[in-house]
Amino acid sequence: MNILGIETSCDETSAGIVSKKNDGSNKLSLLSNTVSSSLPLHAKTGGIIPEIAAREQIKLIIPVIKEALISSFDAIAVTYGPGLLGSLLVGVETARTLSYAFNKPLIPVNHLIGHIYANWIDQDLEIEFPALSLVVSGGHTDLILIKDHKKIKWLGGTRDDAAGEAYDKIGRLLGLSYPGGPAIEKAALNGNKDRYNFPKPMIDSGDFDFSFSGLKTAVLREVQAIEQLNNRTINNICASVQQSITDVLVKKTIYAAKKFKVKSILLGGGVAANQKLRDELKLKIVNSKLKIELFIPKKFLCTDNGAMIAAAAFFNGKPVSWRNLSANPQLYFD
Ligand code: KG4
Ligand code: ZN
Repeated sequence: MNILGIETSCDETSAGIVSKKNDGSNKLSLLSNTVSSSLPLHAKTGGIIPEIAAREQIKLIIPVIKEALISSFDAIAVTYGPGLLGSLLVGVETARTLSYAFNKPLIPVNHLIGHIYANWIDQDLEIEFPALSLVVSGGHTDLILIKDHKKIKWLGGTRDDAAGEAYDKIGRLLGLSYPGGPAIEKAALNGNKDRYNFPKPMIDSGDFDFSFSGLKTAVLREVQAIEQLNNRTINNICASVQQSITDVLVKKTIYAAKKFKVKSILLGGGVAANQKLRDELKLKIVNSKLKIELFIPKKFLCTDNGAMIAAAAFFNGKPVSWRNLSANPQLYFD
């Protein structure tokens, strides 16, 4: 069975085909994944302008789907929320039309669940439950407990800025290119992480919530006190910021993993592409001698893509009539 997944919730326009073998296993294989981003347009403004993103997606959606269609498909999965309304509409309306025209089932997918299921794509190991997922993206920082495919429970999330949002805002105030996450990661390679002692908000709060706006304010204050920002200072600030964010994410994830005695940890979302986070979480699990398998999608499957939406549809999808699907920008976990 092949599912075509369509993703347009933010600035990416993406389509991918994922296939599930008929051998009783849960193995998914990636057949195609095409991503086109309107990022260069947003780089000039240092942030996404929803109207511009949606207009670009209208132009891109058909060419992107055409490129991804390297095989037949049996169903269409589409992100219906959360995200930007205009952007979501492009994907949802296209998917509804395809469902009607080709008479194929239409499966709505929650974008955040999609990020979790990127972990099943081309994965050889069986993912064992209960599993804990840390979804870290531009709009979300969530800890989610997965008892099985149908029992997914939100444990906690950010009270203000998401981790990716903090990277993006701090990147902007340092004059780095947008999005800030990859730019800060690159600058941090040449910086000293111990040069600045930035806060690690809520690291010991004993719950599953996060808060990153205080970190952003602390960096702003530091930058305002510096007469002239040179590359060395910027690199040091980036390394220290990356360390603070990573420490909080790793510590809280391990705390939740122990509390719920999970067998697997699944990382997901754009910030999961960050090498420091990937390495430190791995190291912490090994050093703590925890019997937990860590799953991290390939980097191109961490940021928004259609394949992860198709993957989620295999395990989590309920087909609906094309007549009844509408976008839901505020969609969250049940
Ligand atoms: O999941 P995603 O592609 O889109 C949303 O659903 O938001 O995540 C985008 C976010 C941005 O905030 C970006 O700065 C961050 O992921 N990001 C990174 C890295 N790559 C992307 N953050 C840190 N390090 C990276 N390498
Ligand atoms: Zn995302």
